[in-house]
This record gives sequence, structure tokens and C-alpha cells, in this order.
Amino acid sequence: MNLKNYIASIPNYPVEGVTFRDISPLMGDGEAYREATQQIVEYAKEKQADMIVGPEARGFIIGCPVAYELGIGFAPARKKGKLPRETIEVDYGLEYGSDILTLHKDAIKPGQRVMICDDLLATGGTIEATIQLIEQLGGVVVGCAFLIELIDLNGRAKIEGYDIKALMEYAEAD
Ligand code: PRP
Ligand code: MG
Repeated sequence: MNLKNYIASIPNYPVEGVTFRDISPLMGDGEAYREATQQIVEYAKEKQADMIVGPEARGFIIGCPVAYELGIGFAPARKKGKLPRETIEVDYGLEYGSDILTLHKDAIKPGQRVMICDDLLATGGTIEATIQLIEQLGGVVVGCAFLIELIDLNGRAKIEGYDIKALMEYAEAD
């Protein structure tokens, strides 16, 4: 199955000059969603992950079915003001704008082997912030899984030394 057949590319969205890669056709197709999930599940098994973290919001869509399939826990990294108990937080820059990401203080146990799941690696700001949160709590980031990597933005340079798996790669010209 070619998963790229289930990604919609929208030129000049949300701003001029940016092509938005929309994963909703993939999620909307049961077989494609399951295939993508299974590929990340295999990666998580290889890395012996025992916890999944997904950054709000699209990280939930990717990470939750992986955690469910493996029978391990999922912790949401949420935008500021959404988690009700004691949190830690990190500021981060985005492809367009900036934000604050938070994690409950008890979301990760020291030494836990954590895999981060998200839909897209662009500039790397989101994944870098998520790694910082997990490591502040003593977690070990064993891998970072994405559906899509936008290779022109070179987000992986921000997280050198961490293992990355992207199911699809896109250049701006694709
Ligand atoms: C998008 C996407 C990734 C992030 C990638 O999330 O879902 O999380 O941007 O960009 P980066 O590598 O430059 O950080 P967004 O913040 O738009 O929010 P959403 O997931 O809530 O839609
Ligand atoms: Mg996101």
C-alpha cells in the first residue's frame, strides 16, 4: 500500500508559499490508518518502548492507537492551560508562530522508555520541546515516529542523536 495516496497536498495553506500536507484522508480510510499504525507499532517494538507521548493535537491521532495496540500507556503533551494538575512546561517555536507545551509532572516515571508519536516533522520545534519535557521527568526517549517528514525544513538537525522514523518524506516541490 502506498500511504502517500492518502495524503492531500494543499498549496498556499495556511499561508502563501507553504504546502499543507493533510493526513485526514489517511485517517479516514480504515486500511490506510491501520497500516500506518502497524508500521509505527513495529518500530516501537524494536525500540522496546514502554510509554507513548503525543503532542497535542495531531500527536494524539497517531500515538493513541499505537499505545492501545501495544497495551502500554499514553501521555498527552498539551498546550498550556489544558492539563488540570501540576505540570512542567517548555516554550517552543513553530513553522508559523510559537506556543507552550506542558506535561503532567507524574506522566513519566524516571527511566521509562518513551516513544514520541506525531503526524509531521517540520522545523522540529514541537519534537524538540516534547523531548525536553520527557527528559526533565527522567524519561528516556528511545524514538520519534512521524507519518511525514518535510525534508527541506531539516527538523531532524534540531534533534540530532535521537532515532527518527518517518513513514513518508516530502520535499516542498513534491
Ligand atoms: C503541527 C504538526 C506537528 C508540528 C510540526 O502541529 O501536527 O505537531 O506542527 O511542526 P514543527 O516540526 O515545525 O514543530 P500544530 O502545532 O500545527 O498543531 P496541531 O497538532 O494541534 O494541529
Ligand atoms: Mg501538532
